[in-house]
Amino acid sequence: MEDRPMSPETLAAQALGEVDPVTGALAPVINLTTNYEQRPDGSYPQGRVYTRADNPTSEHAERLLAALEGGGCACALFGSGMAAATAVFQSLLPGDHVLVSRVLYWGVRKWLAEFALSWGLDVEFTDTSDLGTVAAAIRPGRTRLLWVETPANPMWEITDLAAVCELAHAAGVRVAVDNTVATPVHTRPFEHGADLVVHSASKYLNGHGDVLAGAVLSARRDPFWERIRSWRRNAGAMPGPFEAWLLQRGMRTLFLRVHRASQTALAIATHLHQHPALAAVLYPGLPDHPGHAIAARQMDGGFGGMLSIRLAGGGGHARAVLREVGVFKRATSLGGVESLVEHRRGSEGPSSPVPDDLLRISVGIEAPADLIADLEAALWKGSKGWPR
Ligand SMILES: Cc1ncc(COP(=O)(O)O)c(C=O)c1O
Repeated sequence: MEDRPMSPETLAAQALGEVDPVTGALAPVINLTTNYEQRPDGSYPQGRVYTRADNPTSEHAERLLAALEGGGCACALFGSGMAAATAVFQSLLPGDHVLVSRVLYWGVRKWLAEFALSWGLDVEFTDTSDLGTVAAAIRPGRTRLLWVETPANPMWEITDLAAVCELAHAAGVRVAVDNTVATPVHTRPFEHGADLVVHSASKYLNGHGDVLAGAVLSARRDPFWERIRSWRRNAGAMPGPFEAWLLQRGMRTLFLRVHRASQTALAIATHLHQHPALAAVLYPGLPDHPGHAIAARQMDGGFGGMLSIRLAGGGGHARAVLREVGVFKRATSLGGVESLVEHRRGSEGPSSPVPDDLLRISVGIEAPADLIADLEAALWKGSKGWPR
């Protein structure tokens, strides 16, 4: 056999290709144990004591995700994307200054607004797509973390990862990237200099809308990484082994699903671009998107499966169109095999900065023609009488 490293696509398809040493099973086995036998001398044969800290099924999914993100990184699974994200913030110290993308997943923004203050963090929201703004916001010696989401929910703004990492590192600031939307299929943030990568594994990584999980990956096994791991163990933020097993199963088809969703999203965005019922189509794959050139540089083989549309007639028009979809399901979340559409401001509540006229679309793997026809029909039926 030729001695060359396997590509991430092959590693994913074969779930690392590890055969169970006990049974010879090819499909990864699941280990549901919560505890491990101690030897008479008090030691543990494999170093594992209790599943809140270590579990072989979780470790297998962690090794697989680490192989996909690359760079020899370390990985820890969490019970949800929020558990993963908050573990990073909670591993900082009171008084630390953190810079966070102004446009980002609402749950992280809400948590920061509600809890970061009591944790003693000094959180500043900034436009990470503008390098000058980031440079001006960094406080040398006080800023400890720059948190970036790209493409960012739900406007799909793009941050230049290599450029912000360079700026941040010059001031000794760690960079964490929420890579949920791009996935390692399109962007591997460690290659651009990121120190930490965070995922809601409930989205594309699992991909079937039936697992809640998250992950933090670190370029280095340094003391900050140990704090994150220790937070997970002590706070009990580990996923159950069954979720970890389902997650590795989902990741085996990650490349197929993400490539298909990205291709269809581009076809939909191109089709809807300049549609008379729409004020805008927000998708980084469109040449007129402000972040298109950067996205083309840092996203490999596609621009992701997420886009948003803004209705010409405002919020009422958006809700009228939403009522008319059939193939698309009206639901929150993203990154699954079925296509979803959501009035994002309605989901986030009155304090949401998202425009009322915006519908967020998560493209699945259905026949592209069915999805385009469904949106066309919904726009047609829902636009009667609009714009007003
Ligand atoms: C970009 C992003 N990050 C983090 C999260 C939080 O993940 P979870 O729902 O798994 O807690 C989400 C959830 O929608 C998300 O879209």
